[in-house]
Amino acid sequence: MAEPEISSAGSGSEANGAERPLLSVRDLNVEFTVGESTVHAVNGLSLDLRKGETLAIVGESGSGKSVSMLSVLGLIPQPPGKITNGHVFYDDKDLLSLPSGELRKIRGKEISMIFQDPMTSLNPTMTIGRQITEMLELHLDMKPSQAKERAIELLDLVEIPDPSTRFGQYSIEFSGGMRQRVMIAIALSCNPKILIADEPTTALDVTIQMQIIQVVNELRAEMDMSVIWITHDLGVVAGLADRVIVMYGGRAVEIADSEDLFYRPQHPYSIGLLNSVPSIAEPVSERLIAIEGLPPDLSERRDGCAFYPRCALASDICKNNTPRLEAKGTGGQAACFASPGDVARLTEGSAAQQDNASAQ
Ligand SMILES: Nc1ncnc2c1ncn2[C@@H]1O[C@H](COP(=O)(O)OP(=O)(O)OP(=O)(O)O)[C@@H](O)[C@H]1O
Ligand code: SF4
Ligand SMILES: [Mg+2]
Repeated sequence: MAEPEISSAGSGSEANGAERPLLSVRDLNVEFTVGESTVHAVNGLSLDLRKGETLAIVGESGSGKSVSMLSVLGLIPQPPGKITNGHVFYDDKDLLSLPSGELRKIRGKEISMIFQDPMTSLNPTMTIGRQITEMLELHLDMKPSQAKERAIELLDLVEIPDPSTRFGQYSIEFSGGMRQRVMIAIALSCNPKILIADEPTTALDVTIQMQIIQVVNELRAEMDMSVIWITHDLGVVAGLADRVIVMYGGRAVEIADSEDLFYRPQHPYSIGLLNSVPSIAEPVSERLIAIEGLPPDLSERRDGCAFYPRCALASDICKNNTPRLEAKGTGGQAACFASPGDVARLTEGSAAQQDNASAQ
């Protein structure tokens, strides 16, 4: 039986009469069935990507970040995966209903993705240059000489030194940060309108992370691109995103402008996440406060708010009713029954706790 969802306002859509979004995901449900068990990985996710913006998707491991974006591009393995509901609107088409051949033409050319693991995404038996020219020849019908010239330009664009020499080398000859730049060059090769980057900097040290973020930010403006950046690190979000979607248990629990999320979070889980990353201003010395408890078991369908067992503001209504995203006074949306006053007090209390922890 479907669980009750309660909302006092809002529809979960963010468009509100503003400029039409470039990409709209509506009511996306994705599940994986392995043996007797079904994991409800994405549950009723709706989001809009606006033209030219960087939208970050954050959440703990297993919250459905990768699965939701892989589903947008028709890339989840089916089976065991299955998209059981939803639409993905792009350029007057619903990508979820497109024949696979048509979707393949959009993927890589108009919407491209940098995958979570660069080691498995690059082909170790093919030169870096060929991996780029292949995309250019396939999607843009370039001649080999033209494709080579453009590939070297792209390597230069992502600030790989001596791009003409690097063109003829293999991925094994590149450092982690350089491989990640190559992934970006491949993803950008066809001038996509949308770049989806799935944790592209997680394995890299902080300095290289910041360099890569800077490269993507510059290219976004230069190429008039919109970016969806998946991460579990709110520190990364601060330097990068215009807006943020916080996911928990396969649902969006808060959608807000970056600044609002950092200074006026509206969901207890967002407050917990903010406490579990170092302060942006003092990244090294601060102690972190982990969110107590475990992420939800997505193979269990339970009524109520998924954050209930871990939430400092939980009350009776949260146990059996699932809150829907609704507008909060700050301009963003959150899925939470707690009053704004209680949420603000929790934010203040958590900030004080973090100050005490870092003073010790
Ligand atoms: N191929 C698969 N088969 C079975 N279950 C899967 C598969 N891919 C993902 N899942 C499940 O779907 C849920 C969401 O996974 P997803 O990869 O989207 O998490 P994530 O938020 O990207 O986490 P991470 O930060 O670790 O990358 C998890 O419970 C995961 O185990
Ligand atoms: S207050 Fe209730 S609805 Fe809000 S996050 Fe906590 S448990 Fe969920
Ligand atoms: Mg992931």
